[in-house]
Amino acid sequence: MTLRISVIGTGYLGSTLAAGLAEFGHEVFGVDVVPEVVKKLNAGQPHIFENGLEHLLEQHTRSGRLRFTLDYDDIADWADVHFLALGTPELPDGSADLSQLHATIDALAPKLTKPALVVGRSTVPVGTAPALQERLRRLAPAGDGIELAWQPEFLREGFAVGDTLRPDRLVFGVQSDHALRLLEQVYAIPLSEETPVITCDLATAELIKQAANTFLATKISFINAMAQLCQVAGGDVTVLADALGLDARIGRGHLSPGLGFGGGCFPKDIRALAVRADELGVNVLSDLIKSVEVINSAQRIELAELAIDQVGGDVAGKKVAVLGAAFKEGTDDTRDSPSLTVADYLHDRGAFVEVYDPQAHLAPRDGFTQVGSVTEAVRDADIVLHLTAWPEFRYLDPAELAPLVKSKIIIDGRLKLHAPTWRDAGWKLVQIGRAATL
Ligand code: UGA
Repeated sequence: MTLRISVIGTGYLGSTLAAGLAEFGHEVFGVDVVPEVVKKLNAGQPHIFENGLEHLLEQHTRSGRLRFTLDYDDIADWADVHFLALGTPELPDGSADLSQLHATIDALAPKLTKPALVVGRSTVPVGTAPALQERLRRLAPAGDGIELAWQPEFLREGFAVGDTLRPDRLVFGVQSDHALRLLEQVYAIPLSEETPVITCDLATAELIKQAANTFLATKISFINAMAQLCQVAGGDVTVLADALGLDARIGRGHLSPGLGFGGGCFPKDIRALAVRADELGVNVLSDLIKSVEVINSAQRIELAELAIDQVGGDVAGKKVAVLGAAFKEGTDDTRDSPSLTVADYLHDRGAFVEVYDPQAHLAPRDGFTQVGSVTEAVRDADIVLHLTAWPEFRYLDPAELAPLVKSKIIIDGRLKLHAPTWRDAGWKLVQIGRAATL
């Protein structure tokens, strides 16, 4: 059955969700407050880089199933279901900033005169949803006819379209059968493909998302701490990770060692969970999360210090080539990018840093320069740093790059380069947690 659905907020979650719901056959209105964004999306053009999104937007804006608007009057009583896909950025104390959610409810609710289901998709601290429902009901003429459900999202940047169309699980935090039935209609297609569903209360739904991100971040910090131990003890952390991963109870996912995690999700979500756990007196959890963070931040400094060692202890006046600016491959997102922390650290110590990334465009900033190719970045470099695991970096020909650089030293911060190929071409390749440096 075709539903009328609004998706409020058109960031990478909102625009992918809106396009995905149109692909499921629904009539969809996306809402944003930025006129240029709405204009672009109505022309079928994404305002962020996300694999496969342009194709889906183009197809469904053309078919008329997907439209975007600035005006809440277009959607308020039109939609059967309203999805809230707003950001919850970090406040200075580490807690989640809910102001976009509050502002949206304040704009939408006074226009809701008919019963409707509002579904939160943002990542929020436990206990947020009931307060939002109270706010909605207080402000909406439809009053108690407005029901809130919570459906956390598990989209990975770079794979958000696939994760929307073929989710590995759906979590429905609901308070009534009516809400559950509506969500089952929204997701009739993935449900017909036997996607597992977890139905739960609002608090559990809120927690599942933060727990998932925190657990994945913990795996990354665990393997990075093991990399430190391998470095000292002489083991090989990648072999260790492969062996751990073959244990079905552990799994190989998010066990790749290297520069650690960054981006717009893990860092802020784990800190927000730590703050909430502290507020609720569950300090054992916040202590665990703080250790995860300490290990993660230390990886960046460790790598930058290793680069300084490799150029003889003083990086001032040296040219450093940085391969990768995005926080991970497959995205142009540079929020809390580990690569940029390293670049900043070295620049602050006098290095001349040139950065190349296949997708990310850095805003003009003091310090380092962004260049348009690997060749430009590595020319005359005293050291090359491989910091974002873009596939194209894996296929670089070390023999071709060798004559361009001043010193054939490369630190593989993502442990993805084929060490023998680089070493055979005369390079000194260094990986934290793997011995055999030349
Ligand atoms: C993450 C989660 O994976 C999604 O399930 C979740 O929906 C999303 O956050 C969100 O909260 O919206 P994302 O931030 O796109 O998705 O990226 P990941 O692929 O999980 O990677 C996060 C960071 O960890 C990256 O910096 C990546 O380089 C790093 N990473 C990942 C590692 O260092 N090692 C690994 O083994 C995996």
